[in-house]
Amino acid sequence: MSKTIIITGGAGFIGSHVVRLFVTKYPSYKIVNLDALTYAGNLENLRDIEQSPNYYFEKVNILDADSLNEVFQTHQPDGVIHLAAESHVDRSILSPLDFVYTNVIGTVNLLNAAKQFWKNDFNGKRFYHVSTDEVYGALGETGFFTETTKYDPHSPYSASKASSDHFVRAYHDTYDLPVVISNCSNNYGPNHFPEKLIPLFINNIIQQKPLPVYGDGLYTRDWLFVKDHATAIDLVFHKGKNGDTYNIGGFNEWKNIDLVKLLCQLMDKKLGRQPGESEKLITYIQDRPGHDRRYAIDATKINKELGWYPSVTFEEGLAQTIDWYFENQEWLKHVTSGAYKQYYERQYSK
Ligand code: NAD
Ligand code: TYD
Repeated sequence: MSKTIIITGGAGFIGSHVVRLFVTKYPSYKIVNLDALTYAGNLENLRDIEQSPNYYFEKVNILDADSLNEVFQTHQPDGVIHLAAESHVDRSILSPLDFVYTNVIGTVNLLNAAKQFWKNDFNGKRFYHVSTDEVYGALGETGFFTETTKYDPHSPYSASKASSDHFVRAYHDTYDLPVVISNCSNNYGPNHFPEKLIPLFINNIIQQKPLPVYGDGLYTRDWLFVKDHATAIDLVFHKGKNGDTYNIGGFNEWKNIDLVKLLCQLMDKKLGRQPGESEKLITYIQDRPGHDRRYAIDATKINKELGWYPSVTFEEGLAQTIDWYFENQEWLKHVTSGAYKQYYERQYSK
């Protein structure tokens, strides 16, 4: 069956993997990548598929409601998969309003565009909102986030994502807009912007720069390979129940310091350095304010209802990720030039 889907944020980290999966797996679909190309958006992520006949790109900011309406008129979508967002917690602490604009107002603009274009005839339509487990707040030593865990966001980033989730549900409850939401744990993999823990530390290890571990390093995250998130998004988009939420996780919890040490070992091998050499770069620095102690997803629902489970182990995924960064040093150079340097200075020279 043929479909037209607008994927927002398709030039970013997760979005580029979702666009690639849909463009290659569904040649009969028309895939429209709608992205403003902020610092985090990079069309280099999609060079291998940009010539595909079913791929289209629209450089549009989701804050621009008129341009959104035009794109809907031009492409006549049946579905939206919404990933465009400001996504980094540390940047949200520096400039919270950017997160309110894009994540909250941008999402409402997109909901309005879909509702208006579909003219309340929602048969065969779907608005899929991609969200994060960070909306649930922090866990102690035990327990997991389920789909019914109460929202308790602590950072401006997670507060803005929580707000956007509420708006998506409100459009379902108020206007019957056919929506589905997923809340996923921390992703890692190729094309990850080097402001987040894993790609930042890979880049710093290559350059023998300090590895800035926040606080005591005992914070825990549940890591999922980005391509496994993309396959989950494919399933939820096609088979998820209208109005439902699905939690997506890696069944893979790591304390930051243990993960950093593993990364150092793998990188020493890759770089032909002495065992233990990169660990010497570990530097404990002042903690992130409002830092959530532990995230862990209970992904039973998507496992049982949609048959999804991560396909790679952490060791395999991490090895593929490291290989990708070694093979794509030009990409790394491009994204760490210019404005990145100013961000890095501001964030880490405190
Ligand atoms: P990213 O920062 O790598 O990419 C975001 C993309 O959105 C970029 O291409 C950027 O240009 C685009 N964008 C930003 N503001 C825009 C605007 N105003 N208009 C149009 N485009 C805009 O983010 P990511 O890590 O790929 O995350 C994608 C989505 O998945 C986000 O909604 C995020 O909240 C969610 N998520 C991320 C993770 C993770 O670990 N990275 C985990 C769970 C959920
Ligand atoms: P991050 O990749 O920013 O994802 P999130 O905050 O959305 O979970 O951070 C992952 C963990 O790594 C988090 O506990 C914060 C920590 N961290 C550091 O210790 N140092 C750093 O420089 C960064 C970016 C993160």
